[in-house]
Amino acid sequence: MNNFNRSPLFYMGDKYKLLPEISKNFPRNINRFIEPFTGGGSVYLNTEANEYLLNDIDKEIVSLHKFLITSASDPEAFFKKVLRVTKTYNLSRSFFEDIVPEKLKKEFVKTYYAKFNKSGYLKLRDNFNKTKNDYAKLYVLLIYGFNRILRFNGEGNFNLPVGNVDFNKNTTNALNKYFETVKKKKIKFQTKDFSDFLNQIKFKKNDFVYLDPPYLITFGEYNKFWNEDREEELLNYLDLLKKKKVNWALSNITDYSKRGEKLENKILKRWMKQYHVKKIKSNYISFHNNKQKNIKEVLIKNFH
Ligand SMILES: C[S@@+](CC[C@H](N)C(=O)[O-])C[C@H]1O[C@@H](n2cnc3c(N)ncnc32)[C@H](O)[C@@H]1O
Repeated sequence: MNNFNRSPLFYMGDKYKLLPEISKNFPRNINRFIEPFTGGGSVYLNTEANEYLLNDIDKEIVSLHKFLITSASDPEAFFKKVLRVTKTYNLSRSFFEDIVPEKLKKEFVKTYYAKFNKSGYLKLRDNFNKTKNDYAKLYVLLIYGFNRILRFNGEGNFNLPVGNVDFNKNTTNALNKYFETVKKKKIKFQTKDFSDFLNQIKFKKNDFVYLDPPYLITFGEYNKFWNEDREEELLNYLDLLKKKKVNWALSNITDYSKRGEKLENKILKRWMKQYHVKKIKSNYISFHNNKQKNIKEVLIKNFH
């Protein structure tokens, strides 16, 4: 646990746990905080700046942020709507009341949420997919979904199965914090490719760019379209920003090993030598030996 705000989008690979290590390396005085790969937003939520220029190529995650930002003006209405959805689809809702029968809890000690919620979840999913524009429903689907991933099939239908999770007090706390925080911030969201997003910006004094791109050597839903060409393109862009005297910091992974297979990002390792590299203590601990880390995370910056 730390004192930073967890994003209520509980994004896969979010930087929440690493924030104490990352944000101490940021400049003290930030005019515009510019984030081309915002994801769940845990970094911008915990960074002070005059303005926030945010972006992610994933339109759905950005729509959810926009929906939550709009909801910040009336959290009560938001929670009423969520409660209505959970009642309509008979989903467990420990943030409000415990409706899971004791018998089911005893029979399925570790999986009773999944058992209880499955049929309602699938009905809600079908219903959401009919119009695909009710973001309260999509948010509920995300919260009760397996690993809380925003996942759509080729036809654009949300297709995550139910998870063994519940809308609980942690969810409510994260939402309330998000609402409080975004109300005080001046935020603009876009859904462009990172290069188009950065190209349109006329940089000003004390602007700061933080980048947490998909990682070349790990696997995940949002790494699918990332490849060596995109990596090179990004790194070249950062060299250009250095020439323009714009401060930036880049999160990444240089080495990764899984079940004996060792991967390293050679392109990044070669390139980063010209910059300041901070080792970040990672949370990923080896499965076989819980002392030995099998991943090397870094924060690379172009300023002191
Ligand atoms: C590692 S995640 C960022 C996680 C974020 N720091 C957090 O704490 O939640 C990388 C993000 O980059 C986005 N992305 C992938 N390719 C992109 C591209 N070409 N341009 C902009 N965003 C992209 C993905 O949708 C994903 O949300």
